[in-house]
Amino acid sequence: MAVDLVLSDGILIVNDRETVQSLAIDRGKIQGFYKHGKEPASRKTLDCRGLYILPGLIDIHVHLRDLNQSYKEDYESGTMAAAAGGITTVVDMPNSDPPVLSREVLDRKIKSATSKRYVNVGFYSGIPKDIKSFDTSMVPDILGLKVYPHSPLAKGTIYDSKRIRACLGLARRHNLPLLFHPDSSDKTDIATSKEEFFLIHSCESEIKSLQMFLDAKVEYEAKLHVCHVSCAATARLIIEHRAEHTLTAEVTPHHMLLSGGDFPHSDGHAKMLPPLRSPYDTKMLAQALCQKCAIDCVVSDHAPHSNNEKTAPFLEAASGIPGLETMLPLMLTEVFEGRISWIDFLRCCCSGPAAILGIPNKGILAEGYDADIVLVRRQERYITGTEFYSKAKITPFEGRHVLAKPITTIVGGEIVYHEGAFNVGPGIAGRVPIRKI
Ligand code: DOR
Ligand code: ZN
Repeated sequence: MAVDLVLSDGILIVNDRETVQSLAIDRGKIQGFYKHGKEPASRKTLDCRGLYILPGLIDIHVHLRDLNQSYKEDYESGTMAAAAGGITTVVDMPNSDPPVLSREVLDRKIKSATSKRYVNVGFYSGIPKDIKSFDTSMVPDILGLKVYPHSPLAKGTIYDSKRIRACLGLARRHNLPLLFHPDSSDKTDIATSKEEFFLIHSCESEIKSLQMFLDAKVEYEAKLHVCHVSCAATARLIIEHRAEHTLTAEVTPHHMLLSGGDFPHSDGHAKMLPPLRSPYDTKMLAQALCQKCAIDCVVSDHAPHSNNEKTAPFLEAASGIPGLETMLPLMLTEVFEGRISWIDFLRCCCSGPAAILGIPNKGILAEGYDADIVLVRRQERYITGTEFYSKAKITPFEGRHVLAKPITTIVGGEIVYHEGAFNVGPGIAGRVPIRKI
């Protein structure tokens, strides 16, 4: 019996080493691995000579907007950006307009994403002010609970230790991870200058917030996930608490590769929360990822805004940058230049994120796993925002020299993106919502 697709003679990473093999796909799953010339008969073959065959990346921190903010991004442009960036699964944050605090809004997002998707899409929910009113019918369709202590989704909520405990209790009861944005500033802390903005969202504020969550966590066995660690001291505190395997953490390429001092901050080009830090912080984050195993995953924190919102003067400009189309080239450049191992890349971009959220059958190239795959060419090029499929085209990585380009993206065995073009329309490949084990 012929299989659906053979990816022939590509470069597969086995035990941190490059090997040349063929990979067969059948009915959306990885069917097996073959030596050159031993491949099964197939309905279609892609010649992968010179291309890396990697698991599609799993990005568990993206803001795809849609609904009332479709001018910034919608599920079509956002998931096209993911596919073009070699990312086959994204998990969408709940700070949309309206925010996900009810079944009704979650259903609207699921419906929209289902018809517009090019990749797999999962969701998070926020937590309502009155925790007892949390709609438990959402639980099967979400992968975690996300809270923003400095800017709560539900107006008037205060993240004191009592509230944090209650959130951890809710997460524990439903066996969901609690993700949080570590920032102990207050909504009433309004910056009147750039300097004040950076002081309000300082490393001290990040660490204080993490400490509050760690203190509350002592009583619970809830899984706690620290979003976008940006400071060396935060990474250190995480390392100290690593004995507990229920504590996980993520880092973004921009916090690992860019320092705040490299930008004039006259407008919003490099404005995001948490802000870019010092060269020392970037160095220590890279070290934490490679040596200390403090970091479990890399995420893009894709946070698209319109051109006008990003080109406004710094204080008025929106926080957040697009990241879906820069994460893979940036991270693989680190691999090709020898700063990150293949093992750490695959752990942080593919298997780690799947493990944190309990996403089954993804993140690894193994027999029986979903055929979510990206083919990558080692190629010198420069990041160019105007080429993005995302509606957001302003990136602090503009003009950066990178060494990798996603060539083909396969989602559930379907070739979605190939050589700069989309082979299928929206709503064909991928699943919505992605559910946990
Ligand atoms: O820079 C950011 N942008 N940080 C956040 O926490 C939210 C995000 C957004 O939604 O724009
Ligand atoms: Zn975010």
